[in-house]
Amino acid sequence: MSLSRDVRTIAVIGAGKIGSAIIKAIKECYPDIKLIATGRRDITLENAKSLGADTTRNNKEAVTKADLIILSVKPHHFPVIIREVGRDVWNGKKIVSVMAGIKLRTLETVLTNAKVFRAMTNINASVKKASTAISTLNNDTYAKEVIGDMFKCLGTVYWVPEEYIDIWTALAGSGPAFISEIIDALVLGAVASGMPRDIAYKAILDVLEGTAILLKNRDVHPAEVRDEVTTPGGTTIRGLAVMESRGIKSALIETIEAAYKRSFEIGNDIDLYIKKELNL
Ligand SMILES: NC(=O)c1ccc[n+]([C@@H]2O[C@H](COP(=O)([O-])OP(=O)(O)OC[C@H]3O[C@@H](n4cnc5c(N)ncnc54)[C@H](OP(=O)(O)O)[C@@H]3O)[C@@H](O)[C@H]2O)c1
Repeated sequence: MSLSRDVRTIAVIGAGKIGSAIIKAIKECYPDIKLIATGRRDITLENAKSLGADTTRNNKEAVTKADLIILSVKPHHFPVIIREVGRDVWNGKKIVSVMAGIKLRTLETVLTNAKVFRAMTNINASVKKASTAISTLNNDTYAKEVIGDMFKCLGTVYWVPEEYIDIWTALAGSGPAFISEIIDALVLGAVASGMPRDIAYKAILDVLEGTAILLKNRDVHPAEVRDEVTTPGGTTIRGLAVMESRGIKSALIETIEAAYKRSFEIGNDIDLYIKKELNL
């Protein structure tokens, strides 16, 4: 694995919710790699320590000691970090931003001579089933391998052009919320029909997992599986007719579009804010 060959120390700048999920995953995957976590409050540092990281409030010290740095503070704290750490210590290092919104060009302008990556993962990282999109503007294939190895500790990795990151945020970032909402509605349908909630809930989770595996294994369009299940004059077509008449498909298409547009707007606002704060 390139990560264990190339990287001795990883710094996680801002070991909050996403930062600590990453620390936990890396520690389990690569126990020999040293992790240094930063934060402001005692509780943040204590939590990172309990996950196996060394801790400090000194961001400059953490960045200086590390070969690979994960930026996981809220985006508006990024200028604070840059003012504290300065711009020189990042040279030659691999930097991954999981901060929402801040664009690769902006990161590269600030972190000159660093190898910069932008990653967007999701809550499923906590069960090692994350879908993580990573973008970069540099062509260093070895560095890409190292960063890919690291995110594989969280689940599946997809390399995408940066222009897809906001769509990814809608589809994979918000996706677990949309899927949870659909599951909840299907369970309520079973409850309305007379089934106890706990049985319906377990059943639909199995159906969801099984259908995902089936679609992956067969590698077919979902319509093929739908048609296979749809017996003429049977139960499925009655349900599908209701879905069609209530516009479920167009509602879901618009759901992703709305989330994408919001991610795009927020991203632009954040990026502008960062450029203004750092006089770029
Ligand atoms: N890429 C993704 O998949 C994804 C998913 C969710 C979120 N995000 C992004 O990830 C980032 C973090 O989100 P989160 O939900 O993890 O937020 P969070 O829980 O608030 O974590 C941010 C952490 O940054 C620390 N911090 C703030 N200022 C600092 C400073 N000057 N020095 C050192 N540490 C500092 C905070 O420390 P204290 O706790 O001690 O105050 C906090 O622990 C955000 O930019 C968010 O947009 C990305």
